[in-house]
Amino acid sequence: MNIQNFPNSQPNQSIGETIVSDVIVNVCNDNVARRARVREHVNPLAKKYSTAIAPPIWEEVYGDWSQPLSLDIGCARGRYILQMSQLKPDWNFLGLEIREPLVDRCNQVRDELELKNLHYIFCNANVSLAGLLPKGSLQEVTVQFPDPWFKRRQQKRRTVQPDLVVTLAELLVPNASVLLQSDVFEVAEDMRQHFEVNDNFVNMAGAGSFADESVFPSHVPTERESSVISQGLPVYRAYFRRK
Ligand SMILES: C[S@@+](CC[C@H](N)C(=O)[O-])C[C@H]1O[C@@H](n2cnc3c(N)ncnc32)[C@H](O)[C@@H]1O
Repeated sequence: MNIQNFPNSQPNQSIGETIVSDVIVNVCNDNVARRARVREHVNPLAKKYSTAIAPPIWEEVYGDWSQPLSLDIGCARGRYILQMSQLKPDWNFLGLEIREPLVDRCNQVRDELELKNLHYIFCNANVSLAGLLPKGSLQEVTVQFPDPWFKRRQQKRRTVQPDLVVTLAELLVPNASVLLQSDVFEVAEDMRQHFEVNDNFVNMAGAGSFADESVFPSHVPTERESSVISQGLPVYRAYFRRK
C-alpha cells in the first residue's frame, strides 16, 4: 500500500485504518452495480502499468471522428471533460486515467447520457500516449492538478516528463493549446519548464511566467480546481501553444 501525504489525500475512516489512502466509488461492470476500492494514488512506474495499450478504432469510438480532439491527461472522475463535451458538442473529448475503476464509471455515465463525443481510456499516459493517437490529431491538451509526488526520489513519477512533451509535440497540430494547472507551485513550475525547454512550444504568458485564468475562456473548473478555489488557495496556470 502506497500512502502518500498529498494535499488532496483525505483519510477515509469508513474503510478502516489500514486503507487510509483509498476511496470507495460506485462502479458498474456487466450492468451489476458494486462498490469498488480505488487507490487514492498509484505508482505509474510500477510494472503493471508498463505495457502500452492498443489504440481503439477511433471512427468507432466517436460519433464524428473528424471533429477537433481535446485530451485531458489524468482525468480522474472525468467530470471536467464530461462538462466540456456538453458545452462543446462539435469537439471530441478524450480522458486518460491510470485508475481503471474510475474509467469504467466514467464510460458508464457517458453511455447513460448518450454522449458520442466523449471517451475515457484506462492507461498509463506516459507509456501509452505515443502509440494511441495519429500524429497531428490533437487540437488541445490539458494536464490539471497532476499528482505532485513531492519527494525528490519520486518526482520521476510525475506525469509531465520530457518524453511526454516530445510525444505531445508530435500529436498536437500547429497552434494547438496546452493548459497546465496545479495548486502546488513547484509542480506547476516543473511542468512549465518542461514545455519551455521544448522548442515546439511557446509560453503565451512569456517565458518564465504563469498565465491568469482568462487565458482559457471556455474552461470550466475541474474537481480539484473547484476544491482549491473554494479553500481560497492559489492556482498556478501555464498556457502554451504548439508552434
Ligand atoms: C490529483 S488527480 C487530478 C484530477 C483532475 N485532473 C482534476 O483536476 O480534478 C490526478 C489524476 O491523474 C491520474 N494519473 C496519475 N498518473 C497518471 C498517468 N501516468 N497516466 C494517467 N493518469 C494518471 C491519477 O490517477 C489521478 O486521477
